Amino acid sequence: MKVKLNNRLLKVASMVDKNKSIIDIGCDHALLSIYLVQNHSPKKVIASDIHEGPLNHARENIKKYQVEKEIKVKLGKGMEPIEEDIDTVIISGMGGLNMIGILKYQKEKYQNVDTIILSPNSDTDKVRKEICKLGFYIKDEKLVKEKNIIYPVIMFQRGKKRYHYFEYLYGPILIQNKDSLLIEYLQEEKRKKERLLAVLPKKYIQKKYQLKKELKTISKIV
Ligand SMILES: C[S@@+](CC[C@H](N)C(=O)[O-])C[C@H]1O[C@@H](n2cnc3c(N)ncnc32)[C@H](O)[C@@H]1O
Repeated sequence: MKVKLNNRLLKVASMVDKNKSIIDIGCDHALLSIYLVQNHSPKKVIASDIHEGPLNHARENIKKYQVEKEIKVKLGKGMEPIEEDIDTVIISGMGGLNMIGILKYQKEKYQNVDTIILSPNSDTDKVRKEICKLGFYIKDEKLVKEKNIIYPVIMFQRGKKRYHYFEYLYGPILIQNKDSLLIEYLQEEKRKKERLLAVLPKKYIQKKYQLKKELKTISKIV
C-alpha cells in the first residue's frame, strides 16, 4: 500500500535526491520517511523525534506500510540520533528558531551532511541567514500552499554564496524564478502595509519609516 502525503510534505519529498542516507528530524507520524522509502530508493532512513508519543505514532504507521526493515526509529533531541553516514537532513513543520537551534548548536554531529532540507513554519528569513552562516548556500527553494497557508521548502547545500538582505527575506531563487506564490504573498503584504501606513498617526515616525522601507524592498520584486 502506498502512503499519501499532503502538498507540503510532497514538496519536501520532491527536493530529496534518490539513493541518499536521510534523517527526518521531528518525524512525528513518519509519513515522509515512509514515502521516501516507497519512492526515492534511499540507502538509509532514520525517523527521529524528541518525544515518545509521536514515535509511537511513527512505529504504527511504519508497521502499517510494512517498512519496518527500511526505517530506523530513534528517540532524541535534534541531531542527537544522527549517524555518521547520513548525508541528508530533513526538518519540516517546526518553527524556524527551533530549526536554527538544532543546526547551530550540534554542528559537530553533521560534518558528513551535504544537504539540509528545511520547511519552517516561521522566521524563514532568519533560517536562510543562519544556515548560510554555517557554510551552506541555497541550492533550491519552493513555496507550497496548504489549507490557505503558504509554506517554504528550502534546500541548502555545502558551499558559500553571498546574498542581499532582501534575498534572505524572500528567497533568492523564489525571486529569481518570480515564483507565483511569492508574488501572491508579496502583493498581499504590499496591500496590508500600504493600508497601515495610510491610517497610522503621524507620531509613529519610526514605524512609518520601517513600513516605507519594507514597501521599497517589496517594490524591488513586484
Ligand atoms: C508539527 S510536527 C511536524 C511533523 C512532520 N515533520 C511534518 O512536517 O508534518 C513537529 C515534530 O517535531 C518534534 N520536535 C520538536 N522539537 C524537536 C527537536 N528539537 N528534536 C526533535 N524533534 C523535535 C515534535 O515532537 C513533533 O513531533
